[in-house]
Amino acid sequence: MVYKSLVRPTLFRMHGGDAERVHETTLGILSKVAPLAGVVKRRPRLERTVFGVRFPNPVGLAAGLDKNGRALPAWGALGFGFVEVGTVTRHAQPGNPRPRLFRLRDSEAIVNRMGFNNDGALELANRLDRLGPLGVPLGISIGKSKVTPVEEAVEDYQASLRALYRHGDYFAVNISSPNTPGLRSLQDRGALTELLAGLNGTARDLAGSRPRKPILVKIAPDLTDEAIAEVLEVCAAHEVSGLIATNTTLSRDGLAPADQALAAEAGGLSGRPLAVRAREVVRFVSRETDGKLPIVGVGGIASADDAKAMLDAGASLLQLYTGFIYEGPGLVGRINRSLQR
Ligand code: FNR
Repeated sequence: MVYKSLVRPTLFRMHGGDAERVHETTLGILSKVAPLAGVVKRRPRLERTVFGVRFPNPVGLAAGLDKNGRALPAWGALGFGFVEVGTVTRHAQPGNPRPRLFRLRDSEAIVNRMGFNNDGALELANRLDRLGPLGVPLGISIGKSKVTPVEEAVEDYQASLRALYRHGDYFAVNISSPNTPGLRSLQDRGALTELLAGLNGTARDLAGSRPRKPILVKIAPDLTDEAIAEVLEVCAAHEVSGLIATNTTLSRDGLAPADQALAAEAGGLSGRPLAVRAREVVRFVSRETDGKLPIVGVGGIASADDAKAMLDAGASLLQLYTGFIYEGPGLVGRINRSLQR
């Protein structure tokens, strides 16, 4: 409660309300205090093994919040059961011009068109080399560099996978950000087949005699059922370990009247208005795969009830981004305590 009544108003006003600068300052603080935060709290009843990885609890930090792994030790200390860093790309890139991150406060939503601003895969690998073990599993989200034409995407993703392979407990193939031109076309059957075949080959080479590390695919909530079914077929053919559903949406449904002006900003919408659709996609994927393909449910989770509903829809793991911004770090513990009961 202190977060919503005290911390959040302060944060939201800081830097003249510039959401991205607040984000950077907060990450900076977290990166400094994290080493003092102590060990990850154990909740034996929430532990689970999914796609061969042991998770201390099912609530993860979604991709995009700590793109460059600046505050990695903080997340486990805040109660998260895993972290997904990135999305990173083969080439370091600045992303889109600012402003590119907007809070739609009455709707408890965010619109962003960051455009994969990141330090590049090699720099992240160097940072991870310097860090010790995290205490929670680490997912690494990889995407396509803006300078790389879509036709050459496979090599670009492969280079990131190669640079980071030793560090990840799983890899998320991001083909669903709305903010890199052409990226979402990689969800089409032909392109996805080529991409997953390429990444599979690279992962097998790197794995040597060991089993290859899990590769997951992150999809958009704006795909039709037919398109999702097609993605699932390609995933099955290429031994994809799980699906992350969903990324942000291009839809602007369900926004509060006060947020209509910001709704016109280009980019992907996340948070509360996405919850129902994200859950629908998770339910559809679960049904289509007879519950056999692990699903990471993400989109609009802002309470323990939302988390339960996402698990009921068929998710094995959860991720938070926008709910964490609006509800604060207490949300992670509230969800875990409630799931434990
Ligand atoms: C994101 N998201 C995201 N996803 C991804 O796979 N790679 C990324 O780099 C980013 N970047 C990013 C930046 C910002 C500012 C936001 C708000 C979101 C999407 C995120 O991981 C998640 O899928 C959606 O935001 C839906 O979950 P929430 O936010 O409703 O909990």
